[in-house]
Amino acid sequence: MPPPALPGPATPESLRVNRLLMHPAAKPVVGLLCALPFLHLLLGALQLGGVELGANPAETLIRSTGDWTLRLLLATLAITPLRVITGWSALARYRRMLGLFAFFYGSWHFLAFAWLDMGLDLQAILKDIAKRPFILVGSAALLLMLPLALTSFNAAIRRLGARRWQQLHRLVYAVALLGVLHFFWMRTAKNLLGEVAVYVVVLAVLLGWRVWRWRHKPGRPEAPRP
Ligand code: HEM
Repeated sequence: MPPPALPGPATPESLRVNRLLMHPAAKPVVGLLCALPFLHLLLGALQLGGVELGANPAETLIRSTGDWTLRLLLATLAITPLRVITGWSALARYRRMLGLFAFFYGSWHFLAFAWLDMGLDLQAILKDIAKRPFILVGSAALLLMLPLALTSFNAAIRRLGARRWQQLHRLVYAVALLGVLHFFWMRTAKNLLGEVAVYVVVLAVLLGWRVWRWRHKPGRPEAPRP
């Protein structure tokens, strides 16, 4: 994660939004919203509550969990730009939760693949990872998410020290790039790139904003003129 952002403009509107974001019920509500897709898939998998997962439930489970992993990853990356641009500084409280939900969905995505596609056969899983590059890229993304999830708690921040923790959490950029590449690679084989393009644009904006801000950071030495 990047260093703490400068607080955005404090306007009456931003103060109102911040108050709302600080409301004791706001975090549980956002947590519930993040959990809803999972609950929907769970009901469908257990064939409860009249929820159906379509003609190919295994495919729905694998794809939906993959979609939510990527969406929540990008939502996590959107927190800092939104805070800085809008002044909704209380959004910072939600970043860890969104990141952990991304990891949660990523783990279920892997589990659904390993179980429903591969029958939990470790050899078959490793063979498929080695054989299909898009799965290799997805696996690399998930592996890189692991240290982020394990060090997302206050005790880990204290133990690592803020600087090292921040450096480690920059891995989130690699995770997002690999996640989008994984999706692109999978869909390009099927020539279905419309949806992927949306994710590519969102990620480009989120990373582009960071590069722009870094280049305009006060105190950064001017690039030497030719
Ligand atoms: C951060 C990690 C990952 C992200 C963000 C991610 C994301 C996605 C997305 C967005 C899709 C497409 C869903 C759709 O078509 O709507 C997908 C599909 C898929 N992913 Fe992942 N994935 C990740 C890790 C993994 C891992 C670790 C594996 C397996 C080892 C994996 C295996 C698959 C498979 C088998 C599909 C479905 C391919 C198909 O139906 O043809 N992914 N993933």
